[in-house]
Amino acid sequence: MCGIIGAVAESAIKPVLDGLGRLEYRGYDSSGISILSNNEIQTIKARGKLNNLKQRLSMQALEGKCCIGHTRWATHGKPNETNAHPHQCGQVSVVHNGIIENYLELKRKLVQWGHHFNSSTDSEVVPHLINHYLSQQMTQEEAIEKAITQLKGSYALGILINGSSNNLYAIKQDSPLVISQGNNGFYMASDAMALGADSAKIYYPKDNEIFQLNSHEIKLCGNSINKKIHYINNQNSAKLISKEGHNSFMEKEIFEQVDLLKRLSVNSHANKYSTINFKELKKITIIACGTSYYAASVAKTWFEKYAHILVEIDIASEYRYRSPIVTDNELAIFVSQSGETADTLAALRYAKSKKAQTLALVNVANSTIAREANFTFEIYAGPEIGVASTKAFSCQLAIFYKMAIEAAKQRELINNAELKQLIFSFAQLPYIMEKVLQRCTDMKAMAKKICKYSNVLFLGRGALTPIAQEGALKLKEISYIHAEAYAAGELKHGPIALLDEQMPVLVIAPKNNLTDKLLSNIQEVQARNAPLFIIGDKSIREYINLQEDDFFELPPMPEAILPIISVIPMQLLALYSAQILGKNVDQPRNLAKSVTVE
Ligand code: F6R
Repeated sequence: MCGIIGAVAESAIKPVLDGLGRLEYRGYDSSGISILSNNEIQTIKARGKLNNLKQRLSMQALEGKCCIGHTRWATHGKPNETNAHPHQCGQVSVVHNGIIENYLELKRKLVQWGHHFNSSTDSEVVPHLINHYLSQQMTQEEAIEKAITQLKGSYALGILINGSSNNLYAIKQDSPLVISQGNNGFYMASDAMALGADSAKIYYPKDNEIFQLNSHEIKLCGNSINKKIHYINNQNSAKLISKEGHNSFMEKEIFEQVDLLKRLSVNSHANKYSTINFKELKKITIIACGTSYYAASVAKTWFEKYAHILVEIDIASEYRYRSPIVTDNELAIFVSQSGETADTLAALRYAKSKKAQTLALVNVANSTIAREANFTFEIYAGPEIGVASTKAFSCQLAIFYKMAIEAAKQRELINNAELKQLIFSFAQLPYIMEKVLQRCTDMKAMAKKICKYSNVLFLGRGALTPIAQEGALKLKEISYIHAEAYAAGELKHGPIALLDEQMPVLVIAPKNNLTDKLLSNIQEVQARNAPLFIIGDKSIREYINLQEDDFFELPPMPEAILPIISVIPMQLLALYSAQILGKNVDQPRNLAKSVTVE
């Protein structure tokens, strides 16, 4: 993960610090900058959040036209100041996102050549290698080129060299990187979102192209720039900073879902979905990680139920290592909010190598996954800043729902009345969601009780099992309460052994054809004295004796949209539990928003 940024501009430190603020979602255990000031590289780093670095910088008047910055998510080496980037060797300073897999071997060699290392990171080998080749009278470009031929693994690098000319270099392999030309300077960063209002033109470098940013131009070393320029909307980055009156980005993003779904239900992207020939498809494989994987799990139930298509789902980190069978007429869908998740990207490349037709479902439009897939559908959730994914999940589900309807239509497996009902249900979705959000204080009361426990078991059935899993993931991510989820019928096959007064069980209990079965599972829980909490239909209360605070009522709604609605109380539960426990909701420990390492 980690976020990197660099600028060649008047007062380059400002865009770098602003950009680091926007990149903090990629890691926040330490940060640092290097700036060329008075013909010297000055490096300042700090452990912890970016504010610590800003405080240090406020104590010294540093100015310069060439600056690189980094916000870290530790892979190799503890999160401390020594391991924070940039790493420097002589007149070379480097920021790195990715993993240098052969760093031990390189380090051994460099130590033999007399180099001394300060950190326990993999990244530090890069400035040492470049410096080594510079000392052999190579030019800056030659030294960088030679150094990167030694590297195995993934990297996006920002390299500052203090030499006869002051240059910033940027280069990548299998890690995201953008290069940008603005009116007031030249920039590089891990993603377009990090760039401020000055950056209109964005270049997406190919692997191992070396870019030089100097005070006059951006130069593709060895060649002239002849690349497609993607324009980004500068407003995005400015808008990002505001929580719009909420306590956290996550809270803002949860409450934003109503408007997003209103927009999705009004905008007809149906024409786009009809570009996929569902009629001829033999199989859909959906591949993703984390929350996006749970969206895939719900989608499977819709495609199978409404369009009768065989659907396989897989976790991206497993997919390409299990020799999956890619058949003719198979559509492989890759779901990713960030569009940069390394495991999902690697799985996409694997599927493409096996000649599968690939479709990306992403939130970040110009992300690597979006650019590499054969087809791309956006989920239009807008920038998601809270590390725990919320609005991206409901928007992913909304798009999958629309795709399943289109598939059902093309395959003529659904009559007009059923089709109308599905479309009508979708139109109701934001209004029902609004009602659920209006009851948020009920969820505060439930969270107050739940967050007194160290463990929670979530139960669901059918399409609500992945929602229970998503609820457990949300709770553990931001409140650090251990939570697991099961399909309710699985309880008796093992997890029931855990039940006692200290193991609360939260059940999603709608009114549907499985209610009776679920009620039996609930009885099994109560018989073992486990504290019971229910998110469910009002009618459930007729059968189960529960205190007011232990029940969160779901309004009546069509079965098809239940998964999209019932995730809302799950998100609120996690949010309020974390708030009550005083945790950092937007930046939970050990996590980062975009997981760009394997
Ligand atoms: C959980 C969460 C993660 C991501 C996962 C995949 O709240 O955010 O589990 O869902 O890392 O990320 P994307 O969707 O960006 O590929």
